[in-house]
Amino acid sequence: MTDPRVLSQQLLERLASSGELAPAWSDAFAAVPRHQFIPDTIWITRGAELIPVHRAEDPQEWMRRAYGPAAMITQVDDGHPARPGRRERSITSSASQPNVVAGMLDALDVQPGMRVLEIGTGTGYNAALLAHRLGSAAVTSVEIDPDLAEQARRALMTSGYPLAVITADGTRGYPPHAPYDRIMSTAAVQQVPYPWIAQTRPGGKILTPWGTPYHNGALVSFTVNGDGTAHGRIVGNVAFMFLRDQRIDASVDDEECDETTARARHTRVAPYSVAGDYDASLAIGMTVPGCSVIMASDPRAELTGTLWFVDPDTHSWATLRYQPHTRTYPVHQSGPRNLWDEVEAAYHGWCQAGRPGPQRWRITVTPEGQQVTLTETSAIHPAEKHAAGA
Ligand SMILES: C[S@@+](CC[C@H](N)C(=O)[O-])C[C@H]1O[C@@H](n2cnc3c(N)ncnc32)[C@H](O)[C@@H]1O
Repeated sequence: MTDPRVLSQQLLERLASSGELAPAWSDAFAAVPRHQFIPDTIWITRGAELIPVHRAEDPQEWMRRAYGPAAMITQVDDGHPARPGRRERSITSSASQPNVVAGMLDALDVQPGMRVLEIGTGTGYNAALLAHRLGSAAVTSVEIDPDLAEQARRALMTSGYPLAVITADGTRGYPPHAPYDRIMSTAAVQQVPYPWIAQTRPGGKILTPWGTPYHNGALVSFTVNGDGTAHGRIVGNVAFMFLRDQRIDASVDDEECDETTARARHTRVAPYSVAGDYDASLAIGMTVPGCSVIMASDPRAELTGTLWFVDPDTHSWATLRYQPHTRTYPVHQSGPRNLWDEVEAAYHGWCQAGRPGPQRWRITVTPEGQQVTLTETSAIHPAEKHAAGA
């Protein structure tokens, strides 16, 4: 069965029965036809490959996916996919998983009468949900990619949500419609752009996926203060693509990384401890700037592979080789930074601090920049209470 009304109803029931859809958003999810926002070509992942699915070739599969539980990849390589025979490399726009969309809208904590700026229009689906709840005049959405912005504008018009879709770099916000009660980014940031704070009214909120090169998986809710600063705390675990100019450019090239000339040592810290544990890798990312971690599993042997630690800015890298049934792991480090030493020290520091979880981190943004601190307790300051309940 691929009748969109039936599929939409099923999506609604799935979200409601799993408790992921707040009642306040139920009407919007019921009313906005998700498939009208999905482009005719979407992409699916198969191993490391990105494979296109064309609506014209497989309309049933396309429709099922439009109302399925997974994120839909709607653009690759900034809209310039590889020529036939070459592989597409990166996902540059997507319609997020419906449960993530529902969770973020709930965390946004909007009330009728509020004005919202969305950064990252993508398909326009999230903007349509906002417009259904708040009215199209209350919602502005900014998309950096002109083709995506145009597609979203058309879909929004067709569906009856003629909100303002601005083709621009969202890191500048959108001053003509400021101040906003809420800013919601649907692309991740490493540094919160200050214009977002400047364009949010005091007491207003900014909700954004936030990450470090080491760990991309935090949803942060900031409360904007009257003194031009904002204080944020982690309210969820989401992984979004980064804003275009904050993308992470870390990759590894085995041929360029010669272990025979690198500094060698061993460690007893297991790879999972620094790369698999959410709380530990969050803390390592907060503590070791500019370092990405990449896991390269050996396809020929189970539980065998290499963890790479890379800082492209200083051309530093480190490797940790792992295989089953070992207690010590060989490490090689090269470049001006000893990246493994830094990661290991950050891990031990996190253990000594009592293995703090996401509730203990705070992010403060001022005109001078962004600061991350670890608080003594996870208790919530009264001004932050509402964000925490999200
Ligand atoms: C995960 S998608 C957004 C999903 C979207 N909200 C939806 O409902 O389909 C992230 C989007 O952010 C856009 N983006 C990336 N950098 C941006 C920037 N600096 N300003 C505005 N949009 C940006 C990307 O082009 C992409 O379309």
